[in-house]
Amino acid sequence: MRRPIVVGNWKMHGSRAENTALVEHLIQGLDGRQAAEVIVCPPHVYLQEVVRQTKDTLLHVGAQNVATEPSGAHTGEVSAAMLKDVGCRYVIVAHSERRTLYREDDAMVARKFRAVLSHGLTPILCVGETLDERENGTTEAVIARQIESVVAVAGIDTLAHAVIAYEPVWAIGTGKNATPDEAQAVHRFIRDRIASRDGNIAAGLRILYGGSVKAGNAAELFAMPDVDGGLVGGASLKGDEFMDICAAAG
Ligand code: 13P
Repeated sequence: MRRPIVVGNWKMHGSRAENTALVEHLIQGLDGRQAAEVIVCPPHVYLQEVVRQTKDTLLHVGAQNVATEPSGAHTGEVSAAMLKDVGCRYVIVAHSERRTLYREDDAMVARKFRAVLSHGLTPILCVGETLDERENGTTEAVIARQIESVVAVAGIDTLAHAVIAYEPVWAIGTGKNATPDEAQAVHRFIRDRIASRDGNIAAGLRILYGGSVKAGNAAELFAMPDVDGGLVGGASLKGDEFMDICAAAG
């Protein structure tokens, strides 16, 4: 049995006051009846405060990004060791906004993935195709490349300690989610591809869907057999809606 996960990616939103209120709301709502593991990913500058606020609660904390390098003269970067030090458990790697706006290529992604794992943190590796790629019929080729480039560097065994998030770029922040069948098809493709290397790792791997997940569509997406939860952007900033999404994960 794969335990579902729901991750709130706050992106570059929030303030100390807003975060405190939102986290308090989530802590109150997580009463132990939810099957899903629930994680929030605040901007780096707020991580320590959110970790403190969520201590001994059912809410866990992840980061949105990490440096490729372990330390040194890298102005503005935050290392995996630092994220571990302040109490993060998860790190989003290769979000499509990082791939496109900040030019993270496959080689950089693989290094970030390895950096996260080497500190005992869990990477949430994002993959997904653009609208052009979907329309050109290259969705599977793109996703295979994104996964293979990490596996080639880090090894297939590392996927036993990772989470994959399928986020079609055309569905992010657009209000237009993939249909449950579209999501399931890609999730199945990912799992089958990994199964061709290692069946046990594929069977245990949690694959999240992200892209315009809302309270109104979460249940039907999460009901698909290879969808093990969600990576949620905008709707994770609204306490009640995010709790409804968490409840939809089981
Ligand atoms: P939205 O849920 O706002 O579409 O964002 C998805 C996302 O990018 C989560 O990482």
